[in-house]
Amino acid sequence: MIAVPDWLKPVLPFFHPVLMWLLLALSLYALYTGIQVIRTRTAKGEEKSRLLKGKFREVHFQVGALLLVLMVWGTLGGMAVTYINNQKLFLGPHLLVGLSMTGLIAFSASLAPLMQQGKDWARALHITINGLVLGLFGWQAVTGMQIVQKILTQG
Ligand code: HEM
Ligand code: HEM
Repeated sequence: MIAVPDWLKPVLPFFHPVLMWLLLALSLYALYTGIQVIRTRTAKGEEKSRLLKGKFREVHFQVGALLLVLMVWGTLGGMAVTYINNQKLFLGPHLLVGLSMTGLIAFSASLAPLMQQGKDWARALHITINGLVLGLFGWQAVTGMQIVQKILTQG
């Protein structure tokens, strides 16, 4: 049994859900900036110089890096808190989908150097993987809120 200070006990289960909702918003921002990257690459003339000013490649890379590290630590944190509260993990959909998402986003981020070399297949794979991550995120939010409800009704 891991000793948690008394003041921390009531709030401990809520760090992970709050962080993950913020991450869902950050993922949508990554999607937006990613789309702007495509627009910038394909635009011409006036439109292109306007889009270049947005520095979307840099912003997207930065947002992506933040998303990667927070998703890895958010997942580890969710598992740690679950273990502290229950002395075990639950081999259910939220755990398995969560671990899959973390694996997928690492895969997606590892394609960064290849995309920068201009490899189109890496771009297509990056977009496919992240589409999957976003879809799974929606599912995680549903199962995650079901767990929140369970914790709240347990008192
Ligand atoms: C939900 C998450 C993400 C979404 C929806 C997303 C979406 C996209 C899209 C649509 C593109 C444009 C591809 C093209 O030019 O055809 C792109 C490019 C890129 N993404 Fe992401 N991405 C995500 C996460 C990440 C992460 C985690 C990283 C790495 C830390 C990352 C790094 C990059 C890089 C380096 C490029 C290439 C930009 C360039 O052309 O130089 N992205 N992404
Ligand atoms: C979007 C909203 C999300 C909510 C509301 C949510 C909520 C929760 C809650 C309440 C727990 C249990 C914590 C406890 O027992 O004290 C949990 C556990 C966990 N969460 Fe999330 N979560 C969300 C998203 C995610 C995402 C995106 C991932 C991974 C990418 C993830 C990975 C995990 C993992 C691995 C556990 C441990 C599961 C277990 O062993 O049963 N969660 N989550």
